[in-house]
Amino acid sequence: TEQTYIMIKPDGVQRGLVGEIIARFEKRGYKLVAMKLMQASKEHLEKHYEDLSSKGFFNGLIKYMASGPVVAMVWEGKDAVKQGRAMLGATNPLASAPGTIRGDYCIDTGRNIIHGSDAVDSAKKEIALWFPEGLCQYTAATASWIYE
Ligand code: GTP
Ligand code: MG
Repeated sequence: TEQTYIMIKPDGVQRGLVGEIIARFEKRGYKLVAMKLMQASKEHLEKHYEDLSSKGFFNGLIKYMASGPVVAMVWEGKDAVKQGRAMLGATNPLASAPGTIRGDYCIDTGRNIIHGSDAVDSAKKEIALWFPEGLCQYTAATASWIYE
């Protein structure tokens, strides 16, 4: 079964959206297998966003992401990566449909409150980067009510 790395950015934490965001993944039926609140270092964030290092907004992005604690999470379930991205909405919140997390809770691309892995491969890399200690494996009592 698939896992995705989801991270509530410092603006999402500061704005009190942690509970709302977690509730959406829970209600959809995804299983939480790792979670922590952490102040990430710039070095760690530069690794996380290394593919964007040539972009003009990179330094601002790292500063934003290091400006306060983030909530790092791993959610597990069928098609979790693609569905997670759909639940987040577009990178630019103004292009995100209402009903998505970004479409409902934010406005600017540079303050878009949440990160989600964009592919199964990058999810694996991100999970290893943020949770070197490993994940929690357990049986969710609801599984047979969520999956046929
Ligand atoms: P993440 O889930 O955070 O990885 O966003 P994404 O996959 O939707 O977009 P991408 O990986 O291309 O960019 C990573 C993050 O950089 C975005 O979520 C934004 O916070 C920021 N970002 C991307 N493009 C821009 C931009 O043009 N301007 C600014 N200020 N920030 C940007
Ligand atoms: Mg991305």
